Amino acid sequence: MFDVNKIRSDFPMIVNNPNLIYFDSAATSFKPQCVIDEVVNYYEHLNCNIHRGDYDISYIVSKTYDDTRKTVAHFINAQRAESIVFTYGATSSLNTVAINAAKKFLKKGDVILTSQVEHASDIIPWFNAAEVSGASIRYVPFKKDAKFDLQAYEECFADGKVKLVALPHVSNVMGYIYPVKEITRIAHEYGAIVTIDGAQSVPHIKVDVQDLDIDFLSFSSHKMLGPGGVGVLYGRFELLDQLDPIFYGGGSNARFYQDGTVILQKTPEKFEAGTPCIEGVLGLKKAIEYLESVSMEEVEAYGAQLSDYFIEKLLKLDNVEVYNEGSKAGIVTFNVKGIFAQDAASYFNKLGIAVRTGNHCAKLLNNIIEVNETIRASMYLYNTKEEIDRFVDVIKDTTIEKCVDSIL
Ligand code: ALA
Repeated sequence: MFDVNKIRSDFPMIVNNPNLIYFDSAATSFKPQCVIDEVVNYYEHLNCNIHRGDYDISYIVSKTYDDTRKTVAHFINAQRAESIVFTYGATSSLNTVAINAAKKFLKKGDVILTSQVEHASDIIPWFNAAEVSGASIRYVPFKKDAKFDLQAYEECFADGKVKLVALPHVSNVMGYIYPVKEITRIAHEYGAIVTIDGAQSVPHIKVDVQDLDIDFLSFSSHKMLGPGGVGVLYGRFELLDQLDPIFYGGGSNARFYQDGTVILQKTPEKFEAGTPCIEGVLGLKKAIEYLESVSMEEVEAYGAQLSDYFIEKLLKLDNVEVYNEGSKAGIVTFNVKGIFAQDAASYFNKLGIAVRTGNHCAKLLNNIIEVNETIRASMYLYNTKEEIDRFVDVIKDTTIEKCVDSIL
């Protein structure tokens, strides 16, 4: 039974800030006490490195770190734990795929199919991959509503040049859940590899990499109740195993010789050179256990409920323009008519409401929705309808004068 009051009591940021309404979880989520405790426990009782020490606590921590691969694999239904690489965040996961794709999967004349919805972290690496490999970038055409058009997508394959598809599962601005199962089916029919930015989907909806038939999936711990500094790269094992590490160093090699020969560890350890964010991985394990204890089905259903409720209320206001009607993943994007998004946010901030404004790192999205700056309210399992009611009351009465006063 989903009990939001119980959930709220698990989050010190909520308990300690009774006057804060936090609607910026797409940027980073709050952490439950169990995750914080795990990180503190590591520093207070288990502080040591992994895979190197010949003593008890190193063995204990190494085992928990290694077990976390199984926890993550189970969470996204990966076939094997060896398909899970710990990185420094979704951005480093995406770069690992893009840098390798340029070397291994792409050549001059090939096409990388992506979109103008993309967050910077899922497009700049592809610009670079295109430059290095001689491939070119093609954008899936979107209509002004930024919803996914599968027919337009399929037409992009007509010339047989698309070798790689890089798309988000959930847009960080529009919050739409894109049809990844169809996206991969079509791409695979044409022999293309699919890499999915799951930064905004894995925290909010049940993601099953086998059912969705995803080749590579990238996501971050800090957006799904876990600590910062840790990301995950999932790869279909046969493909992942073909990639080279981005970083070389301790922990990722089995032997090296003075003639320069290096024998790398097996996948996934070969990708994890240097001391990783151990406490972050341990905390991620707790975060996943927490999400599973609530159940991802409940998290997803609650996110959709909050989105519907919020959007429905906003649509009733004359002074608001909503850009993502039908969005279900806890992201609501709008503007107060005639008011610059950041000015409105300053006013909201004065009243204890935290939102993000601007282009949200999706700097090409304005080509689709024809708006440069928006207000994004992003919610998670600890937000409530009462918070939405309070925010909507504020939005309803937002005027330029009030915004200017809040800035002065
Ligand atoms: N990618 C994060 C966001 O969308 C930071 O806000």
